[in-house]
Amino acid sequence: MASPPATNDELERWERRYRTEGRRVTEPSAFVIEAMGALAVKPGEALDVAGGTGRHALWLAGRGWTVTLVDGSATALAMASADAAAAGVDIITAQLDLATEPLPPGPWHLVLIHHYLHRALLAGMDTVLAPAGHLIFAQPTVVDPHPRPGPAHRVAIGETATLVPGLEIVSLVEGETEGRHEAMLVARKPV
Ligand SMILES: C[S@@+](CC[C@H](N)C(=O)[O-])C[C@H]1O[C@@H](n2cnc3c(N)ncnc32)[C@H](O)[C@@H]1O
Repeated sequence: MASPPATNDELERWERRYRTEGRRVTEPSAFVIEAMGALAVKPGEALDVAGGTGRHALWLAGRGWTVTLVDGSATALAMASADAAAAGVDIITAQLDLATEPLPPGPWHLVLIHHYLHRALLAGMDTVLAPAGHLIFAQPTVVDPHPRPGPAHRVAIGETATLVPGLEIVSLVEGETEGRHEAMLVARKPV
């Protein structure tokens, strides 16, 4: 299946949206909280990919992780930095256009990709994760009833298991969460 990383047009739309609407959700997703609880790994270096205004980055930083938040929106990153300062936690931010630029190389003990579908990026996870490092990924499926995201940013049922070659699947649920239908994956790089 063709990989649809966000185009520059789409990134510009996100930047405009953050400028006009400000922060969106500030609480971490129920899935991320549950997945981290189940993993119970000791904190290390984490990368939050397309992490927006940093709801997960701040939550992880508050739990002892050294977090790098990457996103293409300068406005979202500035909001995340301001929130981190207000909360008294440190995060590192980097503005990247993930449609054209590579991820910071790591190695990362944790990579979080929440609501950002870039199939080529997922296919390369084994190169940026540390041995025994984990990927947490969640994305709306084709049967999610919400109008957004559009079809190019949804995973097919059964597809997610095929997106992370070289990783072991720790858990994969395709089902309801917080009123949406999502694929929710936890995967691990073998030692
Ligand atoms: C649906 S939001 C998800 C934000 C966050 N992960 C969360 O769960 O709250 C998608 C994010 O992807 C970012 N994004 C879209 N296209 C991008 C690109 N080409 N490069 C970097 N970030 C991009 C947007 O700026 C936005 O913050």
